[in-house]
Amino acid sequence: MAVRRIIRMGHPTLRQVSRSLTTQEIASDEVADLVEDMIETLHDYGGVGLAAPQVNVPIRLAVIEIDGGPSRYGELPQMPLEVFINPLIHVLDPQTAGFWEGCLSVPGLRGYVERPQHVRVDYTTLQNESRSIELNGFLATVFQHEFDHLDGKLYIDRITDMAKLSFDAELARFGE
Ligand code: NI
Repeated sequence: MAVRRIIRMGHPTLRQVSRSLTTQEIASDEVADLVEDMIETLHDYGGVGLAAPQVNVPIRLAVIEIDGGPSRYGELPQMPLEVFINPLIHVLDPQTAGFWEGCLSVPGLRGYVERPQHVRVDYTTLQNESRSIELNGFLATVFQHEFDHLDGKLYIDRITDMAKLSFDAELARFGE
């Protein structure tokens, strides 16, 4: 296992559409090693999610883990670590809400992004099982942010008011 380097905005891989994994690939040692490294990397850098393109592997895979409890985003439900392969998002309610998002590939910045708050995610697990989950509120935002990486999109692309892009420290100092 190893912590991998997270690539940053400007690296072309972050702007690429990643490819899907086949059933054989999902069962491979390479993908198992990648997932182990991504989990270690997520824990080392800190954060709620990491998509494979962020460690310069352009495949449709992301890991997400949310510690429940109070946070800057309010009280969060716990989301145990899970690996999401070839995920598809279906918006169940187009009504949006905004959060100040950050990204390990865009360090030091936060931006206000509005996204739908009720979605369903269909995905494949590392054990090659098909699953479906429904997400509301901040969790819906987290999943959309992570899966945007698989399509070469960053949260900054979705900021509608660029006055709401701030350095972390200034946001903490001056507020929203
Ligand atoms: Ni990100």
